[in-house]
Amino acid sequence: MKFFIDTANFDEIKEAYSWGILSGVTTNPSLVAKESGVNFHDRLREIAELVNGSVSGEVISLDAEGMIREGEELAAIHPNITVKLPMTPEGLKACKHFYEKGIKTNVTLIFSANQALMAARAGASYVSPFLGRLDDIGQDGVELIREIAEMFAIHEIETEIIAASIRHPQHITQAALAGAHIATTPYKVLQQLFNHPLTDKGIEGFLADWAKREGK
Ligand code: E4P
Repeated sequence: MKFFIDTANFDEIKEAYSWGILSGVTTNPSLVAKESGVNFHDRLREIAELVNGSVSGEVISLDAEGMIREGEELAAIHPNITVKLPMTPEGLKACKHFYEKGIKTNVTLIFSANQALMAARAGASYVSPFLGRLDDIGQDGVELIREIAEMFAIHEIETEIIAASIRHPQHITQAALAGAHIATTPYKVLQQLFNHPLTDKGIEGFLADWAKREGK
């Protein structure tokens, strides 16, 4: 499973990219809205020039025509841009359009395996099932990833599964074991993945032993 980061904050992206683990970035209108005073297209360009991988920028139109217009503007920003579309009939019309034009798409707000199958058949490069939001309403987000992964394997579907709405480190392990190709992860959760008390204790021990050897 690969890591994408789920943020529009450039400092977070730069820092996580420097760790060598990032294969892409996803944004959504809520994440962009948090970055006050930032021009959406300029920010996407900045990210796409830094990160060697897919950078999802989401449309906000509700009709296919508007989504296609917005998506074409986004795709023109940089070859790394992936057009993020909602899982609606209009979204899938736009998805088909971009598939035919060879532009990558990420169909978002997936909450069932059937939605994922439809998006894949409309030519989506990626589908984004939302784990955390399903868990929030008492359903099993990880189980959804497992179903989609099995369905795609049986039918030899090449669309990649992005585990989205990740809330904690356990989601990462569970999504990887359930067959997600990618986890798009908030910066805070990426930081948490480093943490283990035995790692800290181990470093302390090594440094203490080294200091003794140096006679300090
Ligand atoms: C996916 O691409 C979305 O940006 C994201 O993962 C949504 O997560 P949330 O449920 O934490 O808003």
